Amino acid sequence: MAEASFTPRVFSGIQPSGNLHLGNYLGALRRFVDWQARDVETIFCMVDLHAITVWQEPADLAHSTRELAAGFIASGIDPERSILVNQSRVPEHAQLAWIFNCVARMGWMGRMTQWKDKAGKNAEAASLGLFAYPALMAADILTYHATHVPVGEDQKQHIELTRDIAAKFNHDYGVDFFPLTEPVIEGAATRVMSLRDGTKKMSKSDPSDASRINLTDDADTIAKKIRKAKTDPEPLPEAYEDLTDRPEARNLVNIYAALSDLSVEEVMADMGGAQFGRFKPALADLAVEKLSPITEEMARLMRDPAEIDRVLARGAERARTIAAPILDETYRIVGMVR
Ligand code: TYM
Repeated sequence: MAEASFTPRVFSGIQPSGNLHLGNYLGALRRFVDWQARDVETIFCMVDLHAITVWQEPADLAHSTRELAAGFIASGIDPERSILVNQSRVPEHAQLAWIFNCVARMGWMGRMTQWKDKAGKNAEAASLGLFAYPALMAADILTYHATHVPVGEDQKQHIELTRDIAAKFNHDYGVDFFPLTEPVIEGAATRVMSLRDGTKKMSKSDPSDASRINLTDDADTIAKKIRKAKTDPEPLPEAYEDLTDRPEARNLVNIYAALSDLSVEEVMADMGGAQFGRFKPALADLAVEKLSPITEEMARLMRDPAEIDRVLARGAERARTIAAPILDETYRIVGMVR
């Protein structure tokens, strides 16, 4: 199919499920800001409908949605240049998701790693929404005909499924209507690992707060978490390749590279041979320098939630001008009488 016929448009989303962390920042938010600086339309979304696939206290969900909006803005997303919106405000997401529920196959959903991880051994007790989650995600992307989706490594499989859904829809209805979206997974920190266990992803839901750096952590907390991060007794090697079997050390080097905008080779040229007694304080200083202004700006924005709500209302209006005609055309293709 001629993908070139679609105007480049960027979409990405983050769940407002609390504990926005360094992995979200380096793997997603920082990349979003890079995209915003290019000559392309950008849409960023707080996916509140996705968040409720697992239980959320209503008051916490509302707070997390506003806090996430503050996190986007404090990280550099300008709601004038980009469209910043919460998912439930644009009903086209859920409407298109229903169509995609009827396109996607049970087998496709059952193979999703995130489903298997989150549902665990007790899949019978998981919500139906958790199972159908990737069809809603495909709708998020395709209701804007987005061509590029910047994400961390863990979302790659979902974007591939989005392509499968688009391809099956186009094939079944004999149209060339939905683009085959590209995942964009870039930078030194596409998979930031837990500070307590270098084989586990840094995650909002890890019960150990010491496993992650939250964007709401103050400078002392950030420095303490890095000082206490799990490592091994060896100094850093000279070459990055020699970190292959040292997941915790490698993770800290990747974080350093991403925060400082250096390549991992440049970090090793500077830090190779260093003991953690030298490397960790340097990393802590760097993290505080880069993250504290964001934390402070988030706190400032959160003092005026009404302003955040106004920004999101405006974002929804703009988003719907793109999404509504695409949903309308989808209904027409499917044969719904309009
Ligand atoms: P979520 O909310 O879990 O994460 C938001 C973004 O942060 C990235 N990320 C990470 N990157 C590096 N290291 C980590 N440890 C780490 N943890 C999270 C994620 O890859 C993601 O880019 N399903 C999505 C939300 C979503 C979405 C979408 C994304 C819904 N609809 C449409 C893109 C397009 C999710 O749960 O992300």
